[in-house]
Amino acid sequence: MPGTPMSVVVLISGRGSNLQALIDAGAAREAPFAVRAVISNRPDAAGLERARRAGIPTEVVNHRTLRAPGAFDAALRAAIDRHDPGLVALAGFMRILGADFVSHYRGRILNIHPSLLPRFRGLDTHRRALQAGVSEHGASVHFVTAELDGGPVVIQARVPVLPGDDPDTLAARVLEQEHRIYPLAVAWFAAGRLRLGEDGVHLDGRVLTRPLSLRPDTRAPV
Ligand code: GRF
Repeated sequence: MPGTPMSVVVLISGRGSNLQALIDAGAAREAPFAVRAVISNRPDAAGLERARRAGIPTEVVNHRTLRAPGAFDAALRAAIDRHDPGLVALAGFMRILGADFVSHYRGRILNIHPSLLPRFRGLDTHRRALQAGVSEHGASVHFVTAELDGGPVVIQARVPVLPGDDPDTLAARVLEQEHRIYPLAVAWFAAGRLRLGEDGVHLDGRVLTRPLSLRPDTRAPV
């Protein structure tokens, strides 16, 4: 019997296509989670409109007006905790969060990153992947720790790098996969199947020795 869906708060800074994927998955019948609030650090983030269209409360915690040390993290934490979420999902959230903030949410904060971590942490991943001449690129969902894009990885999706790719064509191919793996990982977490232990990522009671991998042509992770 499905219980009450887990409340998820999503943090964004921009377009919000991953937010949309989470909203849609959470709105499905018997989904184990629902997006209950969306918080942006930018008042002009297009994703805020997606939330409003879905009837989800939005809030802006503007980093430009919270310049004192620790002020942004404190305001963000207060805004999140008002919703008492089971999970915080970063979805294109472009601020670096402090160690205290991250430890407050340890084990209940996920991020989606557009590369096959640990390769290409940080920004501009598609251009850097092309420059490095990799034949495969992709996206990773990981638990957030104080190390930027360095937390334990849950699941990855791989895509080929094709002749003639530029950062935009590659980004589009990766984004399609982001929209598959992020809702999947969030649903696992909400269903109690996924958790962060002292010894790493646990799925269905077993420690993952390497991230799960979803190939574009398959449905099931391996
Ligand atoms: C995505 O590529 C995500 O992986 C990265 O930033 C981008 C955000 O896109 N962290 P969107 O706002 O979800 O459309």
